[in-house]
Amino acid sequence: MKPGHTLMKHYLQFKDLRAEEYAYLFERTRIIKTRFKNYERYQPLVDRTLAMIFEKASTRTRVSFEAGMYQMGGSVVHLTTGDSQLGRAEPVEDSARVISRMTDIVMIRTYEQTMIERFAAHSRVPVINGLTNEYHPCQILADLYTYIEQRGDIKGKVVAWVGDGNNMANTWLQAAEILGFTVHVSTPSGYEVDAQVAGIRNSDCFKVFKHPMAACEGAHLVTTDVWTSMGYEAENEERRKAFVDWCVDDEMMAVAQPDALFMHCLPAHRGEEVTAEVIDGPQSVVWDEAENRLHVQKALMEYLLLGRIG
Ligand code: CP
Ligand code: NVA
Repeated sequence: MKPGHTLMKHYLQFKDLRAEEYAYLFERTRIIKTRFKNYERYQPLVDRTLAMIFEKASTRTRVSFEAGMYQMGGSVVHLTTGDSQLGRAEPVEDSARVISRMTDIVMIRTYEQTMIERFAAHSRVPVINGLTNEYHPCQILADLYTYIEQRGDIKGKVVAWVGDGNNMANTWLQAAEILGFTVHVSTPSGYEVDAQVAGIRNSDCFKVFKHPMAACEGAHLVTTDVWTSMGYEAENEERRKAFVDWCVDDEMMAVAQPDALFMHCLPAHRGEEVTAEVIDGPQSVVWDEAENRLHVQKALMEYLLLGRIG
């Protein structure tokens, strides 16, 4: 980290940052994105190295972190379970001690949240959650930025979550509590969100609906995710049956606000959690949402390594 920037922060859950820090990050994202679009060089992280540890597959997270770090003048090291000692039972604590002596910031995609918490507890450098079974804060950062970019402040708005009570749903709940909006959640029975797992203090930030159509009524944003997340593949057949009515379609979008947006973190399965008409339709902003992973994460790395600029 920059000399004098002594307060080391990790980004393991959405609630690790406060509302005013999010306001700062969204403003930095706007500036960093504009410069990038204008082909203006911005390299505040020359000689800094990002270690990326992937214990699950990725396209967006890998490309956005890797490209983002190079664009800011730094470099990256890419590790997976299969090609590192992590896959041969070296303790997470020892890996954290070693990797954090050689690099400046670490991004981890893994299974249990406890793994990144153990890593962070023994790391000398900031650790970022690039997806765990419980949370996906970098994705929600991009989703929120995309909403704000297209529609303005999200405070007081309604987000409809249709589908699994998974890592994305949990992170939406944390974001709602911090930024002051409401999530209308509809999941099949047996796949509900749990306020305790989501890590929220009170349940006022979300309402549960039995039917997905009811959750979408009046929503400013409708969003969903795959029926089966990474790590749950053994439940695939059971989930395909349970989730059959949780497919975002034109009828659901029709009961949302007329200018409602549709988002999906991707990868998507057309014909399962969303119809092709919706994801490829005029209300869908999924490509901007994916692109914004790059810009928000550059702002996040800048903030964790250099603190506030100016
Ligand atoms: N949305 C997301 O995190 O995508 P990847 O799994 O491709 O990284
Ligand atoms: N919920 C999904 C998100 C993928 C980006 C998963 O965890 O597989």
